[in-house]
Amino acid sequence: MTVVEIILRHTGRLGVDALEQLVAAECAIHNDCGWRRWELPIFAEYGRNVVFEIDGELAGSAQLVRSWDHPTVAYLAGFGLLPARQKQGLGARCLALLVEQMKEQGFAAIELTAAPDNAAAVKIYRDAGFRVTDRHDAKYGPGEDRLIMRLNLEETTS
Ligand SMILES: CC(C)(COP(=O)(O)OP(=O)(O)OC[C@H]1O[C@@H](n2cnc3c(N)ncnc32)[C@H](O)[C@@H]1OP(=O)(O)O)[C@@H](O)C(=O)NCCC(=O)NCCS
Repeated sequence: MTVVEIILRHTGRLGVDALEQLVAAECAIHNDCGWRRWELPIFAEYGRNVVFEIDGELAGSAQLVRSWDHPTVAYLAGFGLLPARQKQGLGARCLALLVEQMKEQGFAAIELTAAPDNAAAVKIYRDAGFRVTDRHDAKYGPGEDRLIMRLNLEETTS
């Protein structure tokens, strides 16, 4: 099925049902390692919790915070699509929507971390213009190395 339109929506404060739906989505997207009910409301109310909708249905989500030390830098803390929406090139389209919106909002850069062996994620980030700026070995514990990636929005063209 060809997806013609993806809608990006800020959730704002999450009600009980929305929180439950998003926690379930996080479990599906990140193999039970996603954000939980204690974390998603923090992003929703103090950072940004974004959902991607296709035909009115939840297809994926992203969570962002603004850097304390560099307020024009956003950290993309979470990003993913539900399994049924993966492997169809939709991740790149969702990321492009997000990047465009961050740019419109005046951010200078987006930073994130990605597991070096998460080939699909690293590929779409690179294709969107993110560059590896560092590598933190065992960032999240033994065997959990992460690439640090950054997109300078002032260098991208619309
Ligand atoms: C990461 C994610 C958003 C990627 O989106 P996606 O739409 O499923 O990505 P795709 O499967 O279409 O793959 C994107 C690209 O990576 C390539 N790719 C995928 N798996 C690959 C692999 N194992 N080796 C090499 N390339 C690979 C694809 O061929 C595609 O390349 P193309 O754009 O040139 O066609 C999605 O897989 C996801 O939500 N994963 C779970 C959550 C997650 O890992 N989030 C990122 C955290 S940093």
